[in-house]
Amino acid sequence: MSDITKSGFSRRSILKSGAAVAAASTIPTGWAIAQAKPVKIGLMLPYSGTFAKLGENITFAIELLIAEKGGKLGGREIQIVKLDDESKPENAPQNADRLVKRDQVDVLIGTVHSGVQMGIHKVVKESGTLTIVPNAGNDVITRAECAKNVFRTSFTNWQSAYGMGLALGKKGVKKVAWVTWDYAAGNDMGAGFKEGLQKSGGQVVQELKLPFPQTTFQPLLAQIPGLNVDAVGAFFAGGAAVQFVKEYAAAAIKAPLCGPGFLTEGTLAAQGASAEGIETALHYGDGLDNPKNTAFRKAFNAKAGRDADVYAVQGYDAAQLLAVGLEAVKGKIEDEAGLYKAMRAAKIDSPRGPISISPSQNVVHNIYLRKATGGQNKVIGIAAENLADPGTGCKLT
Ligand code: BEZ
Repeated sequence: MSDITKSGFSRRSILKSGAAVAAASTIPTGWAIAQAKPVKIGLMLPYSGTFAKLGENITFAIELLIAEKGGKLGGREIQIVKLDDESKPENAPQNADRLVKRDQVDVLIGTVHSGVQMGIHKVVKESGTLTIVPNAGNDVITRAECAKNVFRTSFTNWQSAYGMGLALGKKGVKKVAWVTWDYAAGNDMGAGFKEGLQKSGGQVVQELKLPFPQTTFQPLLAQIPGLNVDAVGAFFAGGAAVQFVKEYAAAAIKAPLCGPGFLTEGTLAAQGASAEGIETALHYGDGLDNPKNTAFRKAFNAKAGRDADVYAVQGYDAAQLLAVGLEAVKGKIEDEAGLYKAMRAAKIDSPRGPISISPSQNVVHNIYLRKATGGQNKVIGIAAENLADPGTGCKLT
């Protein structure tokens, strides 16, 4: 039996809002009461550990967009509930369950870490809770495990790494080593990097890994000179990226370091001279010259007291996507059919440039080539234009 009623509202949402008998009536109905209630958004993000700053920037940007809209989306007040997921996959199902069942959130925005995302995904696939992913890139959640209630405004790991591999091969680089954490994000990005590199004539000759969130890089760095590679690609992010880039520079390894842009994103001030000249590829860059970006960076800095980065942009766009949906249904979040239709068709003016949503509900965007110069990830070209993840195996029902 379909879970969509004739009105287009799901049984789940009607039960939740108590609006089952909300027909045309002059006395306040369940529907009217539900309309008066704020839309509750659960933010499940890391506020501690190596990804803490990523979670904070996503949060600041979501709050910024809501404030810019006068505290309401589609005419509904917004209430935010925050939960620190600590980037711990083992706690993820229980944490997601708390937001969905105990706090009864209408929307879950989360998270950063791909392993934690898998835990959220199991819970929200079951509950049907609208979920917007503001960072975690694990390919599978918008591929074989895709779900009609799950959208992503950040990237797939494949998208971020494929562009870098492609650009590197085009420069004539042939032999490359790949260094990363051994978990979903590092492995997905490794696969994307390899695919792009192979397509443009290079190859990954060695992969070096350590468990998340370890940062004992020295044993891996010690192996690199013996590999005789032309370049080293790496995925690390947050505090660990700061440490890796500094230790790489200190080791005076000849092969230039590159990677998906997380390696130098939001970290350049702490990395200092050790990051100078590192080329990365990402869907954002400093100095992207468009009016939306200029306004966003100014407003973000005023709110957060620091510069925006890709994580802030992804959070802002998660809120922008929700705003598109809620505005289309005039705040009736219970109108799932209308809400999802509008979100799928969204064309958003993002600080990263124009974005849209692919058939598997993942963001489509440009991948920029950047070079760390004087404390900024300066855009020096486009590695892949309007890149959509292939969405392999996704069947939305
Ligand atoms: C991830 O786990 O998917 C991830 C974390 C930080 C930056 C990029 C990706």
